[in-house]
Amino acid sequence: CGIVGYIGYREAWPIVLKGLKRLEYRGYDSAGIALMTDSGQHIYKKAGKVAVLEDFAETADKSGTVGMGHTRWATHGVPSDRNSHPHTSNDGRLSIIHNGIIENYATLKEELTQRGHTFNSDTDTEVLIHLVEEIQKNEEIDLLEAVRLALHEVIGAYAIVVMDINNPDRLIAARKGSPMVIGVGKGEYFIASDATPIIEYTKNVIYLNDNEIALITRDDLLVKRLDNVVQTPFVQELQLHLEMLEKGGFDHFMLKEIYEQPRSIKDCMRGRIYPEEGKVQLGGIKEFAEKLKNIDRIIIVACGTSWHAGLVGEYLIEEYARIPVEVEYASEFRYRNPIITEKDVVIAISQSGETADTMAAIEMAKERGATIFGICNVAGASIPRLSHAGVYTHAGPEIGVASTKAFTAQVTVLTLMAFYMAQQKGTITTSKMTELLTELDNIPDKIQIALESNDLIQEVADKIKHSTNCLFLGRGSGFPVALEGALKLKEISYIHAEGYPAAEMKHGPIALIDEEMPVVFIATKNSSYEKVISNIQEVKARKGKVIAIVTQGDTEVKKMADYCIEIPDANEAFLPLLATIPLQLLSYHIAVMRGCNVDQPRNLAKSVTVE
Ligand code: G6P
Repeated sequence: CGIVGYIGYREAWPIVLKGLKRLEYRGYDSAGIALMTDSGQHIYKKAGKVAVLEDFAETADKSGTVGMGHTRWATHGVPSDRNSHPHTSNDGRLSIIHNGIIENYATLKEELTQRGHTFNSDTDTEVLIHLVEEIQKNEEIDLLEAVRLALHEVIGAYAIVVMDINNPDRLIAARKGSPMVIGVGKGEYFIASDATPIIEYTKNVIYLNDNEIALITRDDLLVKRLDNVVQTPFVQELQLHLEMLEKGGFDHFMLKEIYEQPRSIKDCMRGRIYPEEGKVQLGGIKEFAEKLKNIDRIIIVACGTSWHAGLVGEYLIEEYARIPVEVEYASEFRYRNPIITEKDVVIAISQSGETADTMAAIEMAKERGATIFGICNVAGASIPRLSHAGVYTHAGPEIGVASTKAFTAQVTVLTLMAFYMAQQKGTITTSKMTELLTELDNIPDKIQIALESNDLIQEVADKIKHSTNCLFLGRGSGFPVALEGALKLKEISYIHAEGYPAAEMKHGPIALIDEEMPVVFIATKNSSYEKVISNIQEVKARKGKVIAIVTQGDTEVKKMADYCIEIPDANEAFLPLLATIPLQLLSYHIAVMRGCNVDQPRNLAKSVTVE
């Protein structure tokens, strides 16, 4: 979910509304805004996107210089008007917006019901604000203290903002496990789940830490820990620009982000590769350079697209650094009893740096003595702060819910890490490194060339847009590319798609193949080329429709495939970076042709801060 708050001298409504639109990638089931006006508190909330709320409140009283808003990704209770935030206390005096989950809400709700509270929603959030009310009822305590005490009673994760009709000139904010940024202006403060709603107004921000609570008035900010110790907040300057958050002439953020990849990958490599010297420098993990010489194993943990990047990392690290790698879904790993030792390095990959399961996996591995490296895109997010060391992907803000440029940047960082580890362990010669890095340096230009197939890809998309199923097959590091291609397609076009190692096709998916079934092959010229060709023949023999991603100038696959999309030739190590591009464009065009909301596909959210 996304949260925004404002207190200052300007009208709160437009600031909060615009902020919600910027945060909509975090969830878009429903939206709501509460305003503190001279005539009391006004709350507007609606199921659906922020635009629905905007229409709904078109003629309403939207005055007030204090306000807060929420865009929801449902956890407890279906998306509906009544389950939308803000929620209020029994007497309607207090209101709250919340991102996260209150795990013990059922017990609390029962206790509160016995004390006479009635609830208007199915949410865990409403329980929390009733709890604050109950605490204030029993004792003469102020709002800040009541919220602080209430938070002591809840188990779970949260970022919350609370408003009170009796204290119209203050907001209370708190966080544990869910992110929260406070923008510092002159005579005004902004609150948000991330900095994107704030950047238009101020560059000075404070990242609230876990277990901190803030009392915010127009001119003052008091930050305390939940154990009541007052903190001195650290104000930092944002390295974000407004144009990074706009579509820049593209129809969708996703398309813009696909086209940004030559630049984002360049940014990711800047200052890190030295082809002439045959060297990689990764400042973020250099203090562990010695340790890397002796590690037994690397465990990569991640979710979704980031997990696919991890699989590519496995190929690269094993190939070049000769360190055994395991790639784990964070959600599975955290609930197993995995064997972790002090000699293990855990690499956590996360675009947002906030994914709840990935964070929990890190915490568990840390407790067991592992060294944690983070690979994140959002600077200052929770995962980089939890990690011992790390490497940022520097892809810039990714707004489209389906990950594109963040994925290729993660793969780039993993490539650099593999080379760096190889350099530390001495498993690569300087001349080999020079050769590889020179080629890597050219990858952004090659991606640019791959993007030039856009018109052809659009034609292919038109041919297969009505399919109900689609198979993606690849071998070696082409396999995670296939998985990612399938995920992209299903996420944004709602076509059922699966990725498989090409050789596994004959153990199941082959049963699905008929003339209606498009099969996308990663069939570039590399060590598994001949084998992939055999797999293509197997599909053709069953009348499947073959779409092949091939190396420029290929003639063999062209004889068999129905459609071929070329990418420039490159060392096998860099194949995932190039082969991913046409697959991103393919799903994009299919989704557009099917009339889907590309940037905000149904039921998904970009950062999943609940487990
Ligand atoms: C969500 C997003 C995916 C993303 C995954 C992991 O499911 O929709 O695009 O890959 O979370 O997110 P992370 O921020 O940890 O990479």
